[in-house]
Amino acid sequence: MTTATAPRAIGGHRDSFAATTRSDRWWQGWVLTATGLFVFFGYLTLRAFQGTYYWFDPYISPVGSPPLFTPASGYPGSVPLNHAWFGTFPSMWPRWVPQSPAFFIPGLAIAFRATCYYYRKAYYRAFAASPPACGVRGASLKYRGETRLLLLQNLHRYTLYGALLLLCFLWYDAFAAFFKGGRFGIGVGTLVMIINASLLSGYTFGCHSWRHLIGGRKDCFSCDAGSKRAHGIWKKSSWLNSRHMLFAWLSLFWVAFTDFYVSMLSRGVIKDLNTW
Ligand code: FES
Repeated sequence: MTTATAPRAIGGHRDSFAATTRSDRWWQGWVLTATGLFVFFGYLTLRAFQGTYYWFDPYISPVGSPPLFTPASGYPGSVPLNHAWFGTFPSMWPRWVPQSPAFFIPGLAIAFRATCYYYRKAYYRAFAASPPACGVRGASLKYRGETRLLLLQNLHRYTLYGALLLLCFLWYDAFAAFFKGGRFGIGVGTLVMIINASLLSGYTFGCHSWRHLIGGRKDCFSCDAGSKRAHGIWKKSSWLNSRHMLFAWLSLFWVAFTDFYVSMLSRGVIKDLNTW
């Protein structure tokens, strides 16, 4: 004779994976987040390793900016030599590593995103599923806070400086995209690059670390003129901060789209509408 066994329970709830008393479609956010992170980060990583088709005069993909070095040959769609800051890749560059400018400054963006407070929540939930959503039983992983491997997360406040530097380059690229062969003009690619820099600015200036740096660390906002000014900037940052998730996704999507647009032009698949 078999005996029915009641499910194990904690606090009156079943404790098997994904067990919940929620009746909404909580898993939709989980699936969308995991898919989005996988697709966009996967695409950008692939493009970084390709090191090709990131230039179409006067546009440069964010994946290849700034072009510190350019390959000597064999990489179609790379920046011409006169646009590379320091000429061709040094001869000591390992043969087995693609000659891609994405391995320099754009790497700072990866460090910034990987340690972002919003993305931590997103990828903890999406990939570790611990828990996959509020009120849902997760995988039985032992959470150790920002310790051990996750200790690196604490570097976020420093990665912010790298992201600010990158932002300067991206705005420079966006304004340089108004000039082709020294002539002023405007093309769809110019607008794509301006939107890219704007969305990344919205994401960066809504960062928790930035908000702390420009005002959050102050004890008094009304004590002197400098603190009052800081309060004004802090309030603007707070507005962006409350929409940080939105800007995180919009900017991630648009970085990938900007690269895709430039690469399609560079491959000759599409034509750019412009005034030149
Ligand atoms: S908290 Fe998200 S970028 Fe800093």
